[in-house]
Amino acid sequence: MTNTAVLTQHTFETIEWTPDGVVMIDQTRLPRETVFVTCRDYIEVADAIRNMIIRGAPAIGVAAAMGVAIGALQSDNLDADMPVICETLAKTRPTAVNLFWAIDRMKSVYASVRHLSLDQVRERLVTEAQKVRDEDIAINESIGRHGAPLVPDGKTVLTHCNAGALATAGFGTALGVIRAAVQAGKKIDVFADETRPFLQGTRLTAWELQRDGIETTIITDNMAGHFLKSGRIGCVVVGADRIAANGDVANKIGTYSVAVLAKENHVPFYVAAPISTLDLTLSSGDQIPIEERAAKEVTEVRGISIAPEGIKVANPAFDVTPNRYISGIITERGVATAPYTESLRRLAKNA
Ligand code: MRU
Repeated sequence: MTNTAVLTQHTFETIEWTPDGVVMIDQTRLPRETVFVTCRDYIEVADAIRNMIIRGAPAIGVAAAMGVAIGALQSDNLDADMPVICETLAKTRPTAVNLFWAIDRMKSVYASVRHLSLDQVRERLVTEAQKVRDEDIAINESIGRHGAPLVPDGKTVLTHCNAGALATAGFGTALGVIRAAVQAGKKIDVFADETRPFLQGTRLTAWELQRDGIETTIITDNMAGHFLKSGRIGCVVVGADRIAANGDVANKIGTYSVAVLAKENHVPFYVAAPISTLDLTLSSGDQIPIEERAAKEVTEVRGISIAPEGIKVANPAFDVTPNRYISGIITERGVATAPYTESLRRLAKNA
């Protein structure tokens, strides 16, 4: 993986297909440094997903699709190599279903074109990966359009983790709703939960929104209840990593606590996510696999240990919010409301 120049420009691409490889903004180094890495083979793409150089469910999906494409470009025997490439990428992170959705999509394109010449097959896979990215940009805009009317004017929006441009190929899901509300002229500001332990809120959401000139305040995760009770928060909007058929939502650890506190204080709690985040094969959120990450994400700050040597650590990266806490699920095809088993199934069919 190669680091390229430190940039200071205002626009950035989270992930791009280039002749040199798959280029990603390195999210582990933001906001201190804006560095782009080039993944030159599918193993490097898999490492980038696993190490969270790229993260956020839709962005992980785009990365996986591009990983399959770059793997295909470098293979002379796709029948033998495709299963290995797909398996390597699928083993990187278990919770965000967009990863598996993108790999399955690439597999089915492969199945439909494998009778063609090697060059033609490679070209089709590269085109498909770029299509996954381009579609994500359009999907973000539609999510924003559907979500913006739900955001109360003159209030603060609370968000958790980063469901923004960095987590997608476009302008975000939850942050896409916020951006669309601002574009529609609503006078809103944002509270960003810091999102321990990886600090996606402090490092990424705050960085993105500040660049856009959207007024943003960072709060530590344990302050959310205090502000939800204060009457200042008009709604909560978060993203999702996997949504079960009954509307239970897996998202960044801490989301569940925010949802319960929102309901207790009569603040609407919205989830913004593309249809590709639905996993209708799971009847409830209890079946969603929850990733456990390294202890040092909790015990270390920038490589310095802050915990007693040898202490036990739990580090689930996600939790599941039961559907009863969710006021609506904002997708590119409209807003699903309870009962979710019916509304989500209807939206999923409505291609
Ligand atoms: O561990 P991460 O940073 O990949 O987790 C990201 C989240 O939980 C996001 O909220 C989710 O993927 C939605 S991103 C549009």
